[in-house]
Amino acid sequence: MTGVAPAAGLLTGRRVVVVGGASGIGLATVRAAAAAGAAVAVLDADATGAADAAEQAQAAGATACAHPVDVTAEAQVSAALDAVAAELGGIDAVLHVAGVMRGQGTELADLPLELWQQVIAVNLTGPFLVAKHAVRHLGGGDGVLVLVGSKAGVLTGSGSVPYGASKGGLHGLALTLARHLGPQGIRVHTLCPGDIDTPLMRRSLDEARANGVNGAQVARIEAALGRPEDVASVLVLLASPASAGIAGTVYTG
Ligand SMILES: NC(=O)c1ccc[n+]([C@@H]2O[C@H](COP(=O)([O-])OP(=O)(O)OC[C@H]3O[C@@H](n4cnc5c(N)ncnc54)[C@H](O)[C@@H]3O)[C@@H](O)[C@H]2O)c1
Repeated sequence: MTGVAPAAGLLTGRRVVVVGGASGIGLATVRAAAAAGAAVAVLDADATGAADAAEQAQAAGATACAHPVDVTAEAQVSAALDAVAAELGGIDAVLHVAGVMRGQGTELADLPLELWQQVIAVNLTGPFLVAKHAVRHLGGGDGVLVLVGSKAGVLTGSGSVPYGASKGGLHGLALTLARHLGPQGIRVHTLCPGDIDTPLMRRSLDEARANGVNGAQVARIEAALGRPEDVASVLVLLASPASAGIAGTVYTG
């Protein structure tokens, strides 16, 4: 079953930052947030993709801006969030969607330390840095921080050792931040998607095949991929005050 877009006006007056908004789930979220009435800031390491996403939001009638940011670089994260707050007059929700999947099908004994460190840097240190520098802008009473994790590392293992570890760590980070930031009026969630049809997932399936993972198993995953738009709808809902009663981890197909 596929869903429908969130109600128009759900995010009217909300200023929403989508980190990793240039592609896949993040790009679908930029489009959905703009359609729901938000002013949208797109942060991504892909400067061209971020600018394109912001242009799409503007074409849909939204206020939008873009900033190139590598989430592993603290100075860039800090400066971009401050710049967005100045441009949009504040920030109400930060949706951290950026992430990488590498090492799919690589045996533990063959896993280079550098690959482990790259995945942990983007998928765990990145959300920490974004949260650290978002918090000074989100404390108005109905601020929202969502970290996109995965079912991998939370409900199941992963075909990639560093990916599963990073997403389990991100989940622990969000649970901990919820406890620390709740008293400051900031609602924190992890959103854990299943297998979604995005460039990350397509690359991951190719990597699995190249590393000799069972072809039938890969084909089964490929045949059942979900839509980025269905994850984006949930992110838009979580960014809205209509979700004030939702707590903790949220799962999607
Ligand atoms: N696609 C899936 O099946 C799936 C399943 C579960 C969780 N997820 C998670 O959803 C999120 C989005 O994944 P997607 O499938 O849309 O991937 P995607 O590759 O389509 O998009 C990821 C975006 O993150 C950006 N990014 C990567 N490294 C960055 C960095 N260092 N700094 C800033 N931006 C960076 C990329 O440029 C890209 O725009 C990821 O966190 C991923 O782990 C995806």
